[in-house]
Amino acid sequence: ASHFAIFSGAINSWIPSPCSFPLKCQWYASGADECCTREDNILAYKRIRFRPRMLRDMSVIDTKTTLLGTEISFPVGIAPTGFHQLAWPDGEKSTARAAAAMNTCYITSTYSTCAVEEIAAAAPRGFRWFQLYIHRNRALTAQLVQRVEALGFQGLVLTADLPYTGKRRADIHNNFQENICTEYGLPPNFIDPSINWNDIYWLKSLTRLPIIVKGILTREDADLAARHGVQGIIVSNHGGRQLDGGPATIDALVEVVDMVQDKMEVYLDGGIRTGSDVLKALALGAKCVFIGRPVLWGLTYKGEEGLREVLQILHDELRLSMALAGCHNVTEIGRHLVQFSKL
Ligand code: FNR
Repeated sequence: ASHFAIFSGAINSWIPSPCSFPLKCQWYASGADECCTREDNILAYKRIRFRPRMLRDMSVIDTKTTLLGTEISFPVGIAPTGFHQLAWPDGEKSTARAAAAMNTCYITSTYSTCAVEEIAAAAPRGFRWFQLYIHRNRALTAQLVQRVEALGFQGLVLTADLPYTGKRRADIHNNFQENICTEYGLPPNFIDPSINWNDIYWLKSLTRLPIIVKGILTREDADLAARHGVQGIIVSNHGGRQLDGGPATIDALVEVVDMVQDKMEVYLDGGIRTGSDVLKALALGAKCVFIGRPVLWGLTYKGEEGLREVLQILHDELRLSMALAGCHNVTEIGRHLVQFSKL
């Protein structure tokens, strides 16, 4: 059970000894194998063109939206990423504060370096979901789920694309995993590789929280998610860190959205770097997008303040892109906004 300490955040002071600045930056940046998918996540946005509308009185623009009924100030949330104390001493507490200040959703990772209690206390009114990796020891996972539910987390995000960790060459070169495991006495892979669709029922038996499945890339799996009664899915390829050669998430979005229709909410992460990327993802059917690495760069730069700045830049860019495209609010964003036939 002590191995699980890190996942409940018992570690409060990351000792940077085995982890120099370039080493951690490489862990944040790294992708699987030749990084084709990581790169394509970004490049795919550059192939999409808008069909902007003019002369529509753009004096008032509203970026607000909702996630499973909870209002957020704009459709960009924080994707789950691990080890925020590598980036900033206050770690996930800074992340929680910045997300709350910007009134958006923070998906807290199982791999958090602050305790979930500390994260909740850092921003008591913040809107948070908890990302779950299922431990081989199911009892530990059950305890964790109940703990985050009691703390007021409002959703459970099950990551589906990591039965094993992808082969990230930079991390192998840097011995990243070995360093972390040695430092904390962790087993090399605590994640249960046997997880499957039936485990959705198991999770539902543990919690009343809505379940969102992260890592869907095909219409077949989107259909299965709907049939298993989850409330949302995140189209994601883990930032290109798992299967190299998988599709860019923006390219996978349309078939997923077409399959799901209105049965549940569809979100996306991967490669979002500008407000116009956000607008493209919404135009192709995402209800909201999440950012991974930009959060880590903001935290590394200046903790809570740096992350707020990242979110503010994306907010302002989205607002401007909406104005220039002729969208007053998110309900006016749809496929008509992009040159769909060229995709
Ligand atoms: C991740 N991601 C991730 N996903 C998850 O479900 N649990 C986790 O603990 C992590 N940890 C993690 C660490 C680092 C350093 C990265 C870069 C990514 C994946 C993450 O949630 C998201 O899918 C991608 O980061 C989105 O792509 P961008 O925005 O980084 O391009």
